[in-house]
Amino acid sequence: MPTSLSDTQLLNAGDTMVVSSPPAAVPDLHDGQVDTSRIDADSKRLINCAQVDVNQLMPIKYKWAWEHYLNGCANHWMPTEVPMTKDIETWRSDKLTPDERLVIMRNLGFFSTAESLVGNNLVLAIFKHVTNAECRQYLLRQAFEEAIHTHTFLYVVESLGLSEGEVFNMYHEIPSIAAKDQFEMDLTTEIMDEEFSTETFEGAQAFLKNLIGYYLIMEGIFFYSGFVMVLSFHNRNLMTGIGEQFQYILRDETIHLNFGIDLINGIKHENPELWSDEFQQQMLDRIKQAVELEIAYAQDCLPRGILGLNGDMFRDYVQHVADRRCERIGLPKQYDSKNPFPWMSETMDLSKEKNFFETRVTEYQAASALNWD
Ligand SMILES: [Fe+2]
Ligand SMILES: [Fe+2]
Repeated sequence: MPTSLSDTQLLNAGDTMVVSSPPAAVPDLHDGQVDTSRIDADSKRLINCAQVDVNQLMPIKYKWAWEHYLNGCANHWMPTEVPMTKDIETWRSDKLTPDERLVIMRNLGFFSTAESLVGNNLVLAIFKHVTNAECRQYLLRQAFEEAIHTHTFLYVVESLGLSEGEVFNMYHEIPSIAAKDQFEMDLTTEIMDEEFSTETFEGAQAFLKNLIGYYLIMEGIFFYSGFVMVLSFHNRNLMTGIGEQFQYILRDETIHLNFGIDLINGIKHENPELWSDEFQQQMLDRIKQAVELEIAYAQDCLPRGILGLNGDMFRDYVQHVADRRCERIGLPKQYDSKNPFPWMSETMDLSKEKNFFETRVTEYQAASALNWD
């Protein structure tokens, strides 16, 4: 039985394992005429690619995807490498006020399940519809990093002896966290619908909306108040184990965001009709809605403020971050707010330096020669 174009499309677009016997080695691309020509990188497409097999990594077309993959691998870490002894001592002492404990708990509560939502959206919604091997290679790496991030919260809960029920249920028990997560989960549900396809105009726009919702909004906006709050403790030499873990997560998330922006801009470039004025306005409205959700969350974490931080500062910060994200995908900035935490930019710039994490325990890149003894 010859492999038809539709089988090839199924493998590319849906990855449905169609078992045809015997499997043909070469796809028949032109009405019974077997195409034995080798592919040219120019034929690759980010979505709806029927002309190139998704298993063919080389020749690479999207060099940015491969770069992000290599950078992700170079940054490999495990939460259990970070000692928690000092954090345990601090948590058991009276060094932290009830308001400071609330900030830490709410952030653990948000991130513990948000990482999982991102991972699930990647493997259940995004992966299937990205029809390019080098991007999928990155997505597999990112999915593992999201698992590492979720692992971090299990490790923190166990180390500090926190209530796992309290931390892992905040995503439906704390309204400001539930609202952010619902905003995201609706996007996953839409793509997972059995009828969903990126081959229609509406479907392709919905897919872009999902990418903007997860990469730009979830990982690029919703994570950032939490980074500021937790890293502000680290700056005061408090809860430095969690702080160091958040620095590693921030470094990973910086790459996730950059990959997402490259993917969004690449899909826009290949499918300019999707980026209509109306669609751009819808995305701006969603980003502004997300900014309000994030400000409400920050105020919920800081009802009375703690040393150096209060809820109002986060209005400016979240707006500042949202403006930067908008500009990266070609949308006009909306707020022009100043960054009240300039030290965060320094932390992010530093995180691009390979040797920033001086306390690193294991050098993974040096361990490439396996020792089986
Ligand atoms: Fe993550
Ligand atoms: Fe991420």
